[in-house]
Amino acid sequence: MNNHSLRFVVMGDLHYVQEQSHREALSGRVKGVTEFADVTRNLWLTRNVTPEVIAAIASLKPDFVIQTGDIIQGHCDDEESGLREMKEAMELLEGLKAPVFFALGTHDGVVGKREERQVKQFVYPAIGKSLGTGPLTKGYYTFEKSGSLFIVLDYTTFVKHNDQAEFIRDTFAESGRYDHVFLFAHPPLFCVGRPFFTHFDFVQTVLAQAADYPVDAYFCGHTHNQISTLHKVGEHWLPQLKSSVLGYPDRPPVHLSDVRAVLPDPAGMEYGWGYLEDSAPGWWEITVRGERVQADWHVLRQGVQGQLCWSRGEKAVFTKMPAFGKTSGLPLPPASEIRGVRLRAAGSNCKTPNGYRVTLNGRDIGALPRLEYFDSRQFMEIEPEFWPLLNNENAISVTTEAEPMCIGGFVLEVETAGGWIRSTVSDYFANTGKWDHWGKHPVEKISEGTTAQVHLRFV
Ligand SMILES: [Fe+2]
Repeated sequence: MNNHSLRFVVMGDLHYVQEQSHREALSGRVKGVTEFADVTRNLWLTRNVTPEVIAAIASLKPDFVIQTGDIIQGHCDDEESGLREMKEAMELLEGLKAPVFFALGTHDGVVGKREERQVKQFVYPAIGKSLGTGPLTKGYYTFEKSGSLFIVLDYTTFVKHNDQAEFIRDTFAESGRYDHVFLFAHPPLFCVGRPFFTHFDFVQTVLAQAADYPVDAYFCGHTHNQISTLHKVGEHWLPQLKSSVLGYPDRPPVHLSDVRAVLPDPAGMEYGWGYLEDSAPGWWEITVRGERVQADWHVLRQGVQGQLCWSRGEKAVFTKMPAFGKTSGLPLPPASEIRGVRLRAAGSNCKTPNGYRVTLNGRDIGALPRLEYFDSRQFMEIEPEFWPLLNNENAISVTTEAEPMCIGGFVLEVETAGGWIRSTVSDYFANTGKWDHWGKHPVEKISEGTTAQVHLRFV
C-alpha cells in the first residue's frame, strides 16, 4: 500500500432540460404519465439549481468528477432536439473545471437502440478527452488514478453474457492489484426505496464478481433518492452510495423511511440514511489517503451532512449522520390544525381508468391516480369531509383491478402549519409472478382483483 492521495466528486442524475427540445411534452402531448411533471420540474431545476450545484462542486477543486448517468432529460421531440440538449449539457458541465467521466443512463440515449447519436457525438468524445484518448467506442471502461482502479459500467447496453459481461469478469479478476477499487453505473445494485427499479441481469452479474473481488464502494443514481447503505456481498460489506443533484434546496429533506418501505432484508444491510427524491440535492466527495477512504455527502447550501470512512477490505463506518428531522412517529394533529390530507402510494402498471377505489376506516374516499414506475410522488387528495374519519390507527383498503401490477407504499400524510406529519408506511402487493425471479422480497402476493388491506398508524 502506498501513500497516494486523491480526491474526486461523484454526482448523480442531472436531467438537464433544453426547453425548445421538449415542445411536445410542454404543450401536453406526453409519452408517459409523469412526463409533463418531470420535464417541467427538471426545467425549473436546470435553471434555478443546477448552475449553483456546478459552481459548488467546482469550488471543491476535485481531481475529477464522475457523473452516474441521466445527464439530460432526453426523449426529446426529435433527433436534432436531443443533440442540442446533450451539447448544451456538456457545455454546462465544463463549469466543473475538472475532467468529467460518465456512466450512461437511459435518458442519455442507448447505443444500438435509440437516440444513440447523443452518446456517440458528445458523451464518448467527452469521456475520451478526460481519459486522454480519442473518443470511446463503448460506454464501459476503466482507468487508474494514483493506484486506485475506477470501473465504469454501461447498463443501458448490458445483455447477459455479452461483451460487457466478459469485460466485468476480466476486470474484477485483475482488481486485486490496486490499492482501491471504485465502481460506477447508473442503476442501483440494491433496491432500497423503489422495488425492482433496476436491471436484474446486470445486478446479478456485477454482484457475482463483487462477492469474490471486494469493491470499496459502488456509486449510482437512477431513482433520484439520496441514500447511503452498506450491503453484505459474499463475506464483504459493500457501500452503495446513491445521489442526485436534482432537488429543491429550500424544501425540508424527506426521510425515505417516512414515505417508503425500506426494502432490503435488514440482516444483510446497514442503513445509514436515505432522503426522497426532489429533496436535499447532493453529491459525494471522496478523499483517498493511502489505505483510508473518506466519503462526504454534501447537500447544496448545507455543507457536509453525512460521512462514512473505511480502510480497504474493512466494513465502512458511518462517522457523521444528517440531522434532518423526521415526519413520522408523531401523533395525529387535532382537527383544527389540519390543513390537508392525502394518501401517497407507489405502483407499477396500475392504469385502469378511474383508478383503484380506496376506503378509509370503512368509508369510500375516492380513487387513486394511475400509478407507474414506482414513482413516489403520486398521491390522492383526501377531501375535508373525510378528515374526521382519521384516527391514530387507520384501516385502508384498496380494490385492485385485474391487470398485472404491483402497488403499495401507502402512507397517510397530514399537512399542518408546522409541516407534514406522516403515518407508518405499508409494504407492497403484487398480483403477478413478473418479479418472482428476484427471490425473497417484501412483496405480498395477492390474486387479481383482490382488495389490499393495510393499517397505517400515527404515534
Ligand atoms: Fe434519472
